Amino acid sequence: MRSLIFALLAVAGPFISTAGAQPAPPAARGVSAESAPLPPEGEGRRLFLKYNCYGCHGMYATGGMGPNIVHSERGDVREAVMRGEDEGMPSYHQYFSDKDIRRLSAYLRSIGTDKEPTFKDWWIDIPPK
Ligand code: HEC
Repeated sequence: MRSLIFALLAVAGPFISTAGAQPAPPAARGVSAESAPLPPEGEGRRLFLKYNCYGCHGMYATGGMGPNIVHSERGDVREAVMRGEDEGMPSYHQYFSDKDIRRLSAYLRSIGTDKEPTFKDWWIDIPPK
């Protein structure tokens, strides 16, 4: 009996141990910012759209009700985003990690270069440019 159990484990083992490591099939993938990694500036653009930064800073960050923030320094981005700003910019500190700040800054820095992502739908897995 014991050897039968061992034999069963030996057969099932590989399936059990690799189950968690399999990448999810495409159909089961979510649409979070983590689903299809883009270069940092692409992930930054995603965040910029997803968190409605564009609502105040304009679709391409060149300004609107909020100021033009093209090429903002990372420190300024961190401060504004984590703390919020006067004139109505909310704090996003509960949503963003350090990595997100780097991505947002990479996006703002890329504007006007050939690395600038210009897609508008953040939820698309692999957006066109
Ligand atoms: C409700 C409108 C609003 C939203 C939404 C908003 N901002 Fe702002 N933001 C502002 C305003 C207004 C200022 C300028 C405040 C001032 O000058 O006192 C500002 C300032 C900034 C600055 C400039 C700081 C500096 O020192 O020059 C950065 C960078 C910035 N926002 C980034 C972002 C990012 C990234 C997002 C999205 C996560 C965002 N903002 C969302 C209104 C907004």
